[in-house]
Amino acid sequence: MSLTRFDTIADVYDETRRKLDEETLVGMDEMVTKHGCHSILEIGVGTGRVALPLMKKGYTVTGMDISIRMMERARVKGFRNLILADGRNVPFREKSFDAALMAHVFHLLDDPVAVMKEAAKVCRVGVFALVRKDGRWPGSFWREDASKENNYDEETKKLIEERRTRVRKIFEKYGFDPSKMSPNWRREEGVIEAYPPDDLKIVSDVLVTETVEERLARFSKGGYSFFSQMPNEMRKEMLKELRTFWQSAPAERFNQPRREIYQLAMWNSERLLSK
Ligand SMILES: C[S@@+](CC[C@H](N)C(=O)[O-])C[C@H]1O[C@@H](n2cnc3c(N)ncnc32)[C@H](O)[C@@H]1O
Repeated sequence: MSLTRFDTIADVYDETRRKLDEETLVGMDEMVTKHGCHSILEIGVGTGRVALPLMKKGYTVTGMDISIRMMERARVKGFRNLILADGRNVPFREKSFDAALMAHVFHLLDDPVAVMKEAAKVCRVGVFALVRKDGRWPGSFWREDASKENNYDEETKKLIEERRTRVRKIFEKYGFDPSKMSPNWRREEGVIEAYPPDDLKIVSDVLVTETVEERLARFSKGGYSFFSQMPNEMRKEMLKELRTFWQSAPAERFNQPRREIYQLAMWNSERLLSK
């Protein structure tokens, strides 16, 4: 059996992600209830980080994923309705559920709209997606817009530019193409622009504070498929570079809170299924 990207990070997934916060859960509950949905198929259910709190709210959730190890983590937490299947080919009868849900999955799919259309076949009401607004990987260290994050001052922007040059050299040394490996958070919002949903609501807007040490610990645990796909030596070199960089500046420079906004979008099945 070949392992998927998420199989390799399943053991540390939960400890390197934030728990689903109450604000997001309440916002999702309100919108899903408003559309009269009770039974949900979560495509890309992972470790059940979103599904289990929804089940506690009284929803019936069936989880589907291509990663058996992610779902094993969900099973340990008591989740039983799990199926190993790909969102590009949903193995259920027509209208088996009220809704399908995809939470933090769009950025991993080549064609998210095709997966939504496939999901719509098995849903009476529609397809929901929890997506990051203004999605930008907060630790991005190679992208052109990295230094524009968090309104950094000129001195900090210069430091970030210098770091990017050093990181690029590491990529070159190992022949590593980051654009192929990195999650494309931009794609999440791109779907909403390209295929406007029938309903859309901001469910949470929070400031997340994470110190440099916490951030380094999170990266070191290997919870990101981006890092886990690097050769060992390269990963060590990258972490050393990040540590040197972040610790070279006064702590308050990189310990600033970052804003994370999540929105829930919904597309009617009928519309998704029309030509
Ligand atoms: C970032 S995790 C999100 C897990 C969970 N929804 C959450 O919010 O914590 C993305 C999940 O989508 C799964 N996934 C990726 N592509 C998929 C596909 N084509 N069909 C089903 N699941 C997929 C991955 O294996 C992974 O478990």
